[in-house]
Amino acid sequence: MNILSPSILSADFSRLGEEIKCIDQAGAQYIHIDVMDGAFVPSISFGMPVIQSIRPCTERIFDVHLMIEEPIRYMDEFARCGADILTVHTESCAHLDRTIEAIKEKGMKACAALNPATDLHVLEYVLPKLDMVLLMTVNPGFGGQKYIPYCTDKIRRLRRMIEEKGLHTDIEVDGGITLDNVKEVMEAGANVIVAGSAVFQGNAGENAAKFLELMK
Ligand code: DX5
Ligand code: ZN
Repeated sequence: MNILSPSILSADFSRLGEEIKCIDQAGAQYIHIDVMDGAFVPSISFGMPVIQSIRPCTERIFDVHLMIEEPIRYMDEFARCGADILTVHTESCAHLDRTIEAIKEKGMKACAALNPATDLHVLEYVLPKLDMVLLMTVNPGFGGQKYIPYCTDKIRRLRRMIEEKGLHTDIEVDGGITLDNVKEVMEAGANVIVAGSAVFQGNAGENAAKFLELMK
């Protein structure tokens, strides 16, 4: 199933609740929530209190993307503030297997994220445990960057790897996705689409509806 997960990093934070309701009404199935710690990535975004405060705004799935060092320290807190899917970076976990197990123990779905330059081999052993893999298609840390073209081949290779193992893992792509390249990434094998600036710049409801139309 194809899913749109608008990233609220590009939303107007002074009216975050309304922005979320708007993309919910347009039909976006997930809400993508980018948590940054100023260490794993240069920026600091927001954390648990913000997630907790927007939880009552929608019943849509909270797709929480942690760009933080050693996320295993915060499993309880993210489960409690309403995360449904928790994504951790392979590059920021000393013990990736243990971290995935901890996410699942807390009742959340587990996703591993890879930076553009990280090889797919890191997934070899843990892939069967994952509900989703997030392929970064820009270097993480900021919204509004340009899609890195070599990522299309990486998406294709990951889809093949998933099929060869007889799995049905979701592939999420994040960074520089627009109405112009969404078809390309979907044809390569991605089925969960993150879009930040391409949704929230201008009319978020209309932009989300345009994405969903192309993703049918
Ligand atoms: C970047 C974040 C993204 C970001 C995407 O590090 O993980 O989710 O919001 O923004 P766009 O779609 O504008 O590239
Ligand atoms: Zn993200």
